Amino acid sequence: MHDLVSIRDLGKKDVEAVLSEAARMEKMPPKKSGELLRGKLVSTMFFEPSTRTNMSFQAAAKRLGAKLMTFYPSVSSTAKGETLGDTIRMIDGYVDAIVLRHPYEGAARYAADLAEHPVINAGDGGNQHPTQTLLDLYTIKKLKGKISGLRVSLMGDLKHARTMRSLLYGLGMFGADVNLVSPSALRMDEEVIRETKGMFGINVSQTSDINLKGVDVLYVCRIQKERFQDKYEGEKMQKEFRVDLEALRGAPEDLAILHPLPKVEEIPPEVDSDPRAKYFEQAKNGVPVRMAVLYLASKG
Ligand code: NCD
Repeated sequence: MHDLVSIRDLGKKDVEAVLSEAARMEKMPPKKSGELLRGKLVSTMFFEPSTRTNMSFQAAAKRLGAKLMTFYPSVSSTAKGETLGDTIRMIDGYVDAIVLRHPYEGAARYAADLAEHPVINAGDGGNQHPTQTLLDLYTIKKLKGKISGLRVSLMGDLKHARTMRSLLYGLGMFGADVNLVSPSALRMDEEVIRETKGMFGINVSQTSDINLKGVDVLYVCRIQKERFQDKYEGEKMQKEFRVDLEALRGAPEDLAILHPLPKVEEIPPEVDSDPRAKYFEQAKNGVPVRMAVLYLASKG
C-alpha cells in the first residue's frame, strides 16, 4: 500500500491484511510499536473540523514512534491564498507521509498524484473516508466474528455522508446484506448503489422507516448540515430522524449500534448506556487501524 484515497483502491485481500495488521497493533506493547516508524515524519493536514480522525491519527503516528508535524490552515499561507497543490508540494518535501482532510471531493486524489510520499485520505467532502470504513469493518468483525451474511442497516444522511458511501462498498466486498434507511430526500446516490451491487452482487434495499427486526448492525450517522445548500432544511431533518430508546424497543438483544461520531441529535445520550451502543468502542478502534494504515503505507 502506498496512498489510501478511496476504499476502492483496496481489494478484499488488502483490506484483510490491514485488519489483521490492526489486530497485531492492538496487542503490541508500546515499546515495540514505538520502533516501527521511528525516525519518520508524518504531517496531519485538516482543512475541515475533526476530533476522532485527527486525534486517532496523531495517537497512531506517535504510538508507531513517528514524529508529527501539524498543519493549521488558518495560520498558514492557505490564509494568503496559496493553492492546495502548492501547499502539498511543499509539505511533501518535508515529511514522509501526509494525512489529509479537505472539503473538496477529489482533493485527496489530487494530492496523491502530486506527492511522492503516501497520502492518506482522512475525508474528502462527501466523497470518501476509507480509514473510517476500515475501522468500521474491524469493529463489526470484532463484535460479530464475521461480516458476510450480516444484516446491516445504514441510517441517516446517506446523500452527503462520505462514511456511508465508503462503508457500503466495504460491506459489499465482504458480502453483507444492506438496508439503506433515510428520508427520501437524503437517499444515497443511485450510481454508488449500482456500482456496489454490480461489483459484489449483494442485496441492497432502501426504506424511509426504521425497522430493526432481524438487524445485526445499525450504523447511524448525523445529518451533514454543512453540506446542505439550505442549513434550515438540514436542521429540520435532524429533528425527524432519531434513534432513541423508544425506537430501540423490540430491537434484537445482540444488535450493535455503531456511529462514526460526532453524534448530535440522532442518538440521544440516554442510548449511550444501552449495552448495544458500541460507538465509543468503535472510535477506540481507530487507533490500531490507523496505526496499521500508516505503517503499511510508509514503512517503505
Ligand atoms: C465523520 C466524518 O468526518 O465524515 N466523522 C469521523 O470522521 N468520525 C462523520 C461526520 O462528520 O458525521
